[in-house]
Amino acid sequence: MKVAIIGQGYVGLTISAFAGEYFEVVGFDNNSKIVEQLNQGNSHIEGVESSTLQNLIAAGRYRATTRGSEIADIDLVVIAVPTPLTSDRKPDLAFIEAACRTIGENIKKPVLIINESTSFPGTLRNYIKPAIERYSKTPIEHLYAISPERVDPGRGDFNQKNTPRLFAGLTPEATAKTREFYSKFCDELVEVSSPEVAEAAKLFENTFRQVNIALVNEFAQIAHSLGISVYETLDAADTKPYGFMKFTPSAGVGGHCIPVDPTYLAAVAEEHGTPATFIRRANEVNLEMSKYVVDRVVADNDGSLAGKSVLVVGVAYKPNVADVRETAAELVIEHLRQRGAVVSWHDDVVGSWNDESSAPLSGADISVVITKHDVVSEREILASAPYVFDTTGKVPGAKGL
Ligand SMILES: NC(=O)c1ccc[n+]([C@@H]2O[C@H](COP(=O)([O-])OP(=O)(O)OC[C@H]3O[C@@H](n4cnc5c(N)ncnc54)[C@H](O)[C@@H]3O)[C@@H](O)[C@H]2O)c1
Repeated sequence: MKVAIIGQGYVGLTISAFAGEYFEVVGFDNNSKIVEQLNQGNSHIEGVESSTLQNLIAAGRYRATTRGSEIADIDLVVIAVPTPLTSDRKPDLAFIEAACRTIGENIKKPVLIINESTSFPGTLRNYIKPAIERYSKTPIEHLYAISPERVDPGRGDFNQKNTPRLFAGLTPEATAKTREFYSKFCDELVEVSSPEVAEAAKLFENTFRQVNIALVNEFAQIAHSLGISVYETLDAADTKPYGFMKFTPSAGVGGHCIPVDPTYLAAVAEEHGTPATFIRRANEVNLEMSKYVVDRVVADNDGSLAGKSVLVVGVAYKPNVADVRETAAELVIEHLRQRGAVVSWHDDVVGSWNDESSAPLSGADISVVITKHDVVSEREILASAPYVFDTTGKVPGAKGL
């Protein structure tokens, strides 16, 4: 069986690597630089080894392309393109639309089309299917299914194989064929009764994280004003063997999922006349953490950062990955600069970002830790400035939340 995977980013390349063990995979991406790199056997995604890619290429089971004509003879397509927000924070399905166009214009026989991109309930039925049919020159009865991706890049214990996979087709045949496909490389498949349930479950999982992170971020502020340690309090609460799940405070949330997916849920809720005030407020609390962090740093430094050199340590959105999408570091840096600080950042995992390069981890007046990668030691961080504010709870001896 030949499989095309549209989008060769975190999700698409990861699934390509797993599917390539069993099927001939064509990775379609419209970024020619990425395609060229992949065809040379160089992975740009944590968790997908270049050696895996090289083995698949050598065995003739993987190639990347920017050409739609190269997916004309495939049997199954997986859509794994970005689903961001527009500038006014509404769901942006432009990439999905473009993927539907590639599929509609190039595939001339009935195939199974599975969407793995995260979107609101109804996207498969009301958006993807009609769009592909619109772009197809002749009417074709494709099969459609959804299987939301749950991969957590950089995570060692859970991967494609051992993370249970939700799925549902628009028809029983689509459901059965989707099961057949994933059962080759996933241990546990969870069939739900409709694509809308699978789409909603994915959004709810990330909304659950978002609101709990907002709650603990608010609690961190309360604990500080009460003069007690948020970390000790959370550890104490965590001794309860049931009814409690520990989340830890931070400078905000980043990555593609947590800051974005709940807004997809809120948008579709509001479209249906149901307010999503809790979800909206959780997003605000998380966004406001960056200002709170900078206010605390200012308060500890004689009420002014004017002219002081501030080093932001760790700009990736989470430890041990190079992903800077929606990183809280961006807002923290903005607030620091507004207060007159001379800001640089250190993150050798990221390397370069926003046309700036990682600065040395030393010589600053103030360091503010946003993300602590394993490759950076606590000792180095503490030595980088006379005052260190840590938002991660991983640098004992520093000031912190
Ligand atoms: N990254 C994660 O941890 C994660 C986890 C679960 C779900 N998701 C969801 O999976 C989807 C993909 O996310 P990602 O993190 O892989 O994104 P990504 O930005 O890492 O990769 C997307 C890739 O798609 C390519 N692309 C964009 N438009 C295209 C088009 N029309 N045709 C072909 N290629 C195109 C881009 O060049 C890029 O290489 C999103 O909906 C996201 O919410 C992501």
